[in-house]
Amino acid sequence: MAIQKVGVVGCGLMGSGIAQVCAQAGCDVVVREVSEPLLDKGLKSIEKNLARLVEKGTLTTEARDQVRGRLRGTTKLEDLGDRDLVIEVIIEQLPAKKELYAALDNICSPETIFASNTSSLSITEMAMFTKRPGRFFGMHFFNPVPVMKLVEVIRTIASDNQVYEDLLAFAGKLGKTPVRTSDRTGFIVNRLLVPYLLDAIRVLEDGVASVEDIDNSMKLGCGHPMGPLTLLDFVGLDTTYYIANIMFDEFREKRFASPPLLKRMVMAGWNGRKAGRGFYDYSDPAKPRPLQLT
Ligand code: 3HC
Repeated sequence: MAIQKVGVVGCGLMGSGIAQVCAQAGCDVVVREVSEPLLDKGLKSIEKNLARLVEKGTLTTEARDQVRGRLRGTTKLEDLGDRDLVIEVIIEQLPAKKELYAALDNICSPETIFASNTSSLSITEMAMFTKRPGRFFGMHFFNPVPVMKLVEVIRTIASDNQVYEDLLAFAGKLGKTPVRTSDRTGFIVNRLLVPYLLDAIRVLEDGVASVEDIDNSMKLGCGHPMGPLTLLDFVGLDTTYYIANIMFDEFREKRFASPPLLKRMVMAGWNGRKAGRGFYDYSDPAKPRPLQLT
């Protein structure tokens, strides 16, 4: 089955990126947000990204106009009724997902494929909110979506094999490299990444090294694009804390347990770059100041 008409539910940081890459890949895209101001914000960030690509010469103005022509924003869920695939990118709360999928299940054709961009919730549990568990998958993109090449494509024990192949091919059409993974909390990347990020916090807590030296060590010693504490600020401390808690709940292993410092920082609202403060202080965004633990 060729996936041509795509719906994206949620136009925040990840949803807007997904809508953008789908439209750039030639799909007809409808992206839905709950309110006009939120939709406007998401569409503006897509505009900004496209403008940057035109400025760099990666995209011609004609191609940009074609992308714009393929992308439509809405606040009405009903506008997703004719989609081949709906990708859900809303808040990571099961009751909200349940309500959304129950509504989408009635609005969309039984043929429509549903895919959640969840980073940590169970795909199987969400599939059972619908009458189409065979056509329900995970599609986990990475931030920033237009840049990161990976998509984890997650199947469940109830998945239809052919539809899974179609979805893998679709991820390839987006210019991404799809990887196959099953429905286990954290899939591949977060299963490996989250313990690493939590360990970086433990290294800081134990007084082994400073924020800057931990980050420089992994950047310069291992060739990572960002050090772990910078990456934590980039992903969001609240998001990481939330994912770690779900993983700890699933596996009951110490390596998924949040260090006390992470919990304290989340309680203080020091959630990273978006909050202006995390392991760095971003008052001067050009020159972030590392956190000093006394
Ligand atoms: N949107 C679109 N393009 C962007 C972008 C954004 N938000 N941010 C950067 N870019 C583009 C730039 O335009 C530039 O493009 P060019 O090479 O064509 O000129 C390119 O990316 C590199 O950007 P910069 O030169 O400004 O900066 P860097 O070289 O430092 O790269 C980075 C920025 C791509 C974010 C890089 O630091 C990186 O790869 N960091 C690691 C990110 C990462 O690990 N993401 C995964 C997080 S985990 C996750 O998402 C899963 C979740 O479940 C937790």
